[in-house]
Formats: sequence, C-alpha cells, structure tokens
Amino acid sequence: MTGDKILEIKNLHVYYLTEEETIRAVNGLNLEVSEGESVGLVGETGAGKTTACLAVMQLVPDPPGVIADGEILYKGENLIYASEKRHREIRGNGISMIFQDPMTALNPVMTIGQQLMEVVQTHQKLGRAQAKDKVIKILEIVGVKGDRFNDYPHQFSGGMKQRVVITMALLCQPELLIADEPTTALDVTIQAQVLEIIRKLQKDLGTSMLLISHDLGVVAEICTKVAIMYAGEIVEFGTVPEVFRSTRHPYTRGLFESIPRLESKSEKLTPIDGLPPNPADLPCGCAFHPRCRHRKPVCEREEPPMRGEGHIYKCHFEL
Ligand SMILES: Nc1ncnc2c1ncn2[C@@H]1O[C@H](COP(=O)(O)OP(=O)(O)O)[C@@H](O)[C@H]1O
Ligand SMILES: [Mg+2]
Repeated sequence: MTGDKILEIKNLHVYYLTEEETIRAVNGLNLEVSEGESVGLVGETGAGKTTACLAVMQLVPDPPGVIADGEILYKGENLIYASEKRHREIRGNGISMIFQDPMTALNPVMTIGQQLMEVVQTHQKLGRAQAKDKVIKILEIVGVKGDRFNDYPHQFSGGMKQRVVITMALLCQPELLIADEPTTALDVTIQAQVLEIIRKLQKDLGTSMLLISHDLGVVAEICTKVAIMYAGEIVEFGTVPEVFRSTRHPYTRGLFESIPRLESKSEKLTPIDGLPPNPADLPCGCAFHPRCRHRKPVCEREEPPMRGEGHIYKCHFEL
C-alpha cells in the first residue's frame, strides 16, 4: 500500500564518546520515509548524515559510537531493541545501503560474479543457475554487460564499480535503499549517468529511497521530499516544490544562495558565513544562531520550535 511508513526516525541521538569529549553527531533527528517515496537528506560535511544512516543500518561503530536515545522504526519495528540476528535479516532483505566509496563494498580478491552470487545465495533460496540469471538481469538493468561477470573489481572504472555496488544493493530486493552520497567519489561526467540509473530504478521498481547528498540540484532531480540537516537534526522538511519554491529556514536559504547560477557571470559561490558548529561543543539555543543573519537574543538562549505543517522549519521566527 502506498503511503505506509517504511522508516520512522524519532528523536534519535547518536554520540561518539572519546576520552576527551562527547561528539553529538546526531542530536534529536526526526525523519520519515513512506512507501514509494524518495527523500533527500542534505547538509554540509559533519552534519551527521552518514552517522544517521549507519544507525538505521545498525552499523554505528561501537566503540566509540552509541545510540544514546530515540527510536528507529522499520515498518513499525524498533530496530534499537531488535537482536543482531534480526538486524542481519533486515540488512539482507529490508534495507540496503550504498556507500560513498564503491571500494568499501567490494572485495578486491573476488570476481564481481562471485560476490553478487554470494549475496543472492545467502539471502534467497535459489539454485546456482537461477541465482546467476538474477544477477545478470540486474547487472544489465544498471548497464553492466553480463560478460563482465568473471571480472575483478580493479578491472572496472569508478562509475562501473558503483553500478556493481548498486546491483549488490538491489539483489536483496530492499524495501528501502539508502544511498550515501553515491556519486561523490566519481568523475563529474560519470555522476550524471549513475544518478540517471538511480532515478530509473526508483521509478521502475518503486523502491523507497533515502538519498544523502550535499547537492540540492541532485535532490531536485531525484527526490520527492527533502530534509535539510544541520548539527545533527532536521531544520527544514517538505516536498521538493515546497522547499525549493518557498525556502524558510535561514540555513536552507544560505544553501540555495551558495549554488552557482548558470545565468550569473561570476562562478563564485556565496558561502554561508562562518563554519559548521563543532559537534563536541554545540552552541546553546538554536545551533545555527552564530551564523544566522536574522538572529535575536532569544536564539542564543532557547531552542527554536518546529513551525508549519507538512512543510516544517525550526526557527524562532515566522519567515
Ligand atoms: N567513528 C567516529 N569517531 C568519532 N567521531 C566520528 C566518527 N564518525 C564520525 N564522527 C564525527 O561525527 C560527526 C558527524 O559525522 P558524519 O556522520 O560522517 O557526518 P556527514 O556524513 O554529514 O559528513 C563529525 O563531527 C565526525 O567527525
Ligand atoms: Mg557522510
């Protein structure tokens, strides 16, 4: 049924505990993905995007990472209380993740065929011939010829490797695909091709998706909804048209202003003044206040409320 919630993240807190400090990588995150939706999660480096995804996959490195508070519901089941066995099951056929660097997902000493067959045969009861048919079918959907089955990862270009990784993620027929900056490590020309594949898959297979990016343009191309993340939490959320047409949060406005415009003569970006906050020492009140043009004394003292319905933003002021 369309519209059912696949993933609900509620008040999630994920910290990295070191001897000297507590790094609040994810700090009160709320986010939902419903069936058939593709949600873009956008934010600067260090905002906590990858940590949030790792928490959903139950792969936060521990130590130093801990899920300190909150809930992660996969189709209503709280993954934080589920067993390690159940987590593996869900990673096998419920939620798949594509990482930024394709090499972290591929084993350099096995052919891609061996690796892909292993994925199918561990999670699905298929004979060898059937499994191979399935692998080749999905490889061809993402644009890798079946005759490359016996090649090793180093024989592929970066873009082709990422296609193999996408194949690996899709073989489990996940209900939710998490793609963490899937094209950042690739050449610009290849990025567009890989994005096109992801978009086509989303359309054809109807897989729900959480796409992490620091590029608003990519999100506009692929996603139906967008969540803007700052200092470990969501500061604005809505459908792509809502957020792109009437941007509310001063941070989101800053992100849009920093996109180079095609029509403008200068290629220069207008970056948001100041630096992202140190997650080991977050500002009081609104985490964005030190960089905000609209700040008032209240912003330094009090956490802002979430405003709006559907299209929401976290600010002391109606903007
Ligand atoms: N294994 C780790 N140990 C300690 N700190 C970490 C670890 N992984 C990430 N961090 C810190 O957590 C914060 C959020 O990082 P990350 O989730 O990778 O953000 P993003 O993906 O948005 O760039 C950063 O300050 C980062 O340095
Ligand atoms: Mg990241």
